[in-house]
Amino acid sequence: MEGWDADVAPTTPWWADAVVYQIYPRSFADSDGDGIGDLAGIRSRLDHLRTLGVDVLWLSPVYPSPQDDAGYDIRDYQGIDPVFGTLEGFDELLADVHAHGMKLVMDLVVNHTSDEHAWFEESRASKDSPKRDWYWWRPAREGLEPGTPGAEPTNWGSFFSGSAWQLDDATGEYYLHLFSRKQPDLNWENPEVRQAVCAMMRWWLDRGVDGFRMDVINMISKDPALPDAHVVGSGGLFADGGAYYLCGPRIHEFLQEMSREVFTGRPELLTVGEMPGVTVDEARLFTDPARREVDMVFQFEHMGVDQGLTKWDHHPLKLTDLKATLARWQAGLADVGWNSLYWNNHDQPRVVSRFGDDGEHRVRSATMLATVLHLHRGTPYVYQGEELGMTNAPLRSVDELRDIESINHYRQEVAAGRDPEQVLASIRPMARDNARTPMQWDASPHAGFTTGTPWSEVNPNYTEVNAAAETADPDSVFHHYRRLIALRHSSRTVVLGDFTLLLHDDEQVYAFTRRLGNEELLVLGNFSGSDAEVELEGWEGSELVLGNYREPAEGLGLRPWEARVHRREVGR
Ligand code: NOJ
Repeated sequence: MEGWDADVAPTTPWWADAVVYQIYPRSFADSDGDGIGDLAGIRSRLDHLRTLGVDVLWLSPVYPSPQDDAGYDIRDYQGIDPVFGTLEGFDELLADVHAHGMKLVMDLVVNHTSDEHAWFEESRASKDSPKRDWYWWRPAREGLEPGTPGAEPTNWGSFFSGSAWQLDDATGEYYLHLFSRKQPDLNWENPEVRQAVCAMMRWWLDRGVDGFRMDVINMISKDPALPDAHVVGSGGLFADGGAYYLCGPRIHEFLQEMSREVFTGRPELLTVGEMPGVTVDEARLFTDPARREVDMVFQFEHMGVDQGLTKWDHHPLKLTDLKATLARWQAGLADVGWNSLYWNNHDQPRVVSRFGDDGEHRVRSATMLATVLHLHRGTPYVYQGEELGMTNAPLRSVDELRDIESINHYRQEVAAGRDPEQVLASIRPMARDNARTPMQWDASPHAGFTTGTPWSEVNPNYTEVNAAAETADPDSVFHHYRRLIALRHSSRTVVLGDFTLLLHDDEQVYAFTRRLGNEELLVLGNFSGSDAEVELEGWEGSELVLGNYREPAEGLGLRPWEARVHRREVGR
């Protein structure tokens, strides 16, 4: 794909004009009334996705799991958790997805397993276990008794609060877990680990799946010396060890090996690597097709624009920061590589509550945000419910938190003497729980998600915000997403056009052009509830391709949360 441009190379990868839809199975659709979504529930809702027009479904993990981290802690890579169904049920779903003309991508979680995985059980059994070296085991810090404060082998913190090390009584050594203590990190230095992972991936591909979304895949190569992290400021008990495990020394080698071992001879797949902390320069390497690593990455810079040192330190968005970062990624991956585009997933709060207005202007701001994102160059990802403009959860009390990350953080802060109400207030805007409330299908009890008791509270706004109401309303968020997806499918300029940011310093208006050959598109988005003036030469009287107001605009100015896409012909 190097130098990849419609004029030069008419064949582009199939995923370049595709739109991916992420399903979080626990919360999508429950077929058997146990309050948890399942595979049969997904099957029963494929028509919704077909109508929306998406090309690929990405399934968050459905493997057997103790569910400590909602399935991202896997006990068995080659099975289906009974709560979601069976392998036969999975095959039926896959066949149905294909029959609906869509593809299915699995979540690949191989930075860590569950501590209940047979590999880890064998590894922890003794220091001489043949699988001891499949995980990161270390003795206590020299001179300190195991289990005493500060005896952890490094000062690294876990993403879910506390130390990244857990003492295991069986052998008196610690194991590394960057996430929960029930998610021990695999040791990719060991070639047996890599071979086992590749064999498992081939097994899924042989079953017919169409690719993988690779969970925190840039964490698989660690600096084997495992040095202590640099402490920033006054520091907490534990520090950020990212320098020693984000895009570590052998990451490119490992991904190239995986690609050779697993993807050779299978050209029609989609691979996307989730990579916290990845830079544009690194992403160019990861996604350069000539290097055969991954097709695209999920980067996080634009998800950090409303945060301080930690995600709980939330502040309002400054639009110029968001524009600057996304434009840098557009430019950085313009000639080599490819971007993924997302506002939402199961780890992020709902974008209409985060960057939009989920009250009076919910529909208008959700459709504006969708327009701006989907008109960038890259492959857009839609997270379930985003196409309805679903909003953050009220999270009225700590009892409504279900996610290990927010619960651990709450406990840690309260134990440290902070005011519980203030801690909850800091968790509310950023909690992953916001994204995980049940899908809102209709106005019947529990939003039509389940006939039982849902595992997480349904957002009370389901009587108004739901798929049934929105499919019946041509002005809904749903139909706007449908139109955006159809536009991408029909316009090579949307897929391949060059990106140019305009109005860099404007704190209200997001504006850019996309150009291919002699067609140019202008995209305008008003990130505010007040009118905005826009002056751009040569666009007066241009054709309106898409907008989120029915009533025609006067001039280029934007009404509250308005988005418009204009088109004009230009000389070559
Ligand atoms: C990233 C996933 O998206 C998140 O949900 C999970 O908690 C961590 N990786 C650990 O697997």
